[in-house]
Amino acid sequence: MEQKEKMTKILVKGLKKTFLERRSRLRYPGQCHHRETCLVLDNLTFSVDQGSFTCFVGPSGCGKSTLLRIIAGFESKNEGTVLIDGKVLHAPSEKHVFVFQEDGLFPWLTAWQNVAIGARRITDPEKRTHEIEEHIELVGLSGFEDHYPHELSGGMKRRAEVARALIVEPDILFMDEPFGALDFVTRLQMREEMVNVHTMYDMTILFITHDIDEALQLGDQVIVLSDRPARINADIKLDFPHPRDLTTGSIAEIRKEIYYQMGLHPAL
Ligand SMILES: Nc1ncnc2c1ncn2[C@@H]1O[C@H](COP(=O)(O)OP(=O)(O)O)[C@@H](O)[C@H]1O
Ligand SMILES: [Mg+2]
Repeated sequence: MEQKEKMTKILVKGLKKTFLERRSRLRYPGQCHHRETCLVLDNLTFSVDQGSFTCFVGPSGCGKSTLLRIIAGFESKNEGTVLIDGKVLHAPSEKHVFVFQEDGLFPWLTAWQNVAIGARRITDPEKRTHEIEEHIELVGLSGFEDHYPHELSGGMKRRAEVARALIVEPDILFMDEPFGALDFVTRLQMREEMVNVHTMYDMTILFITHDIDEALQLGDQVIVLSDRPARINADIKLDFPHPRDLTTGSIAEIRKEIYYQMGLHPAL
């Protein structure tokens, strides 16, 4: 097999982030007190290869979304550096596209019109139409172009959002628990499609999930974060072909290890 030369796409060094806690009532144990400075990301250092699929796993509230927002340039940091292509990150880029867990489609636009938003920079109308058609087909939404979001299933909505993100030809695709709200079977289908999409596009994907198995199915690299303040518990490269059977071989061992690390048993 041809070995691709691996270049570093993202380098995060000594990243720290604190928030000022505004809530006066404590809802969870370990939460920060009102008006206290609350450490969320504690000295994170890691790198991500160009064109790789990196998954971040960690307990709810540990700082995963905050981390991705900082790398995307939407959120400030307190300490440390974020380098993208060797350059210090200053501001968001239109080539860094986010897909969130919540419904991100415009409800008053059809599936076609929503995907078209991602294609607005393509000036040639013929090329634009062609690209929209291709991307709708790619995500399996052909025949549903004229449907509004409320007429689409949860999975179809996610597909439309993925199409809208891909049509931008992102350099980095940020996905924050994109399939978290889907039913189990649809989630598995979407995972499979993400693996296919990743082989077709030369983009770096940063993917947040709280699902350990999802991370192991998808990632070339899995970064396991601790409870807040998030520290890196494990940073694992997964050089296994797809589709992956998580129940045997060394990937099963890695899976067990991550479950234990998160205080869980892999076979409940
Ligand atoms: N803008 C903010 N102001 C204050 N606290 C915040 C803000 N955003 C996130 N937090 C706190 O930071 C912690 C991490 O949040 P988040 O990154 O959303 O976690 P995750 O995505 O891992 O569930 C949480 O405790 C949350 O309450
Ligand atoms: Mg989050």
